[in-house]
Amino acid sequence: MSLVVRQLAKRYGESVVFRNVSLEVGAGEFVAIVGESGVGKSTLLNCLAGLDTWDEGSVAVDGVDLATLDDEARALLRRRRIGFVFQAFHVLPHLDVAQNVGLPLMLLGQPDPVRVERMLDAVGLAGLGPRLPQQLSGGQLQRVAIARALVHQPAFLLADEPTGNLDPATALRVMDVLLAQTREHRASLVLVTHSVAAAARADRVLHLTSEGIRPD
Ligand SMILES: Nc1ncnc2c1ncn2[C@@H]1O[C@H](COP(=O)(O)OP(=O)(O)OP(=O)(O)O)[C@@H](O)[C@H]1O
Ligand SMILES: [Mg+2]
Repeated sequence: MSLVVRQLAKRYGESVVFRNVSLEVGAGEFVAIVGESGVGKSTLLNCLAGLDTWDEGSVAVDGVDLATLDDEARALLRRRRIGFVFQAFHVLPHLDVAQNVGLPLMLLGQPDPVRVERMLDAVGLAGLGPRLPQQLSGGQLQRVAIARALVHQPAFLLADEPTGNLDPATALRVMDVLLAQTREHRASLVLVTHSVAAAARADRVLHLTSEGIRPD
């Protein structure tokens, strides 16, 4: 997987969120993005996944400019190649934990309950598959979101504050799972985090400001 972002700018009306954002991420690379609250980290991740639009610049995944893809093609790219851990989890309330984690595999027509169980085990949720999301804690929900992002072994992993709700020991374990994915499958990981411990494990740390992104 390769990602090339050139001179990306995002505005809401007259108000600039960020501009001049250029970065490249290679296969197997782990890049952490830091920056103060409200600077546009989640917005940038959404752009990288083709979930949001931008006003200037380009985003290319594996050499394909996302602007040239229609909604359906972008959805297909996400389904096949991308895992996304949302800051707000986006766990589906009417599906149980195992169904939530297995959703990417269902969408690919490749259901695999054994793999789902293995993912739940990897994030410390073994046996919680039949529970509904409302029966979980915030940190457990966060780990459901992480298991779901990894279950189809995506080549490109985007994670927005994935350890934000976790105690240090669980955060460490979750980071291990995310890193194992990138190292074992040469996936690329872009991680937004306020955690110094998480950022310290990255190959590179980039600092996002409204005027661009630069090495931290
Ligand atoms: N629909 C919208 N209209 C106007 N402004 C918006 C809209 N959505 C987001 N913003 C603004 O865009 C900016 C970037 O938001 P974003 O969620 O990307 O920040 P963030 O860096 O992820 O912050 P945090 O660290 O708190 O998660 C914020 O200042 C936010 O208020
Ligand atoms: Mg955010």
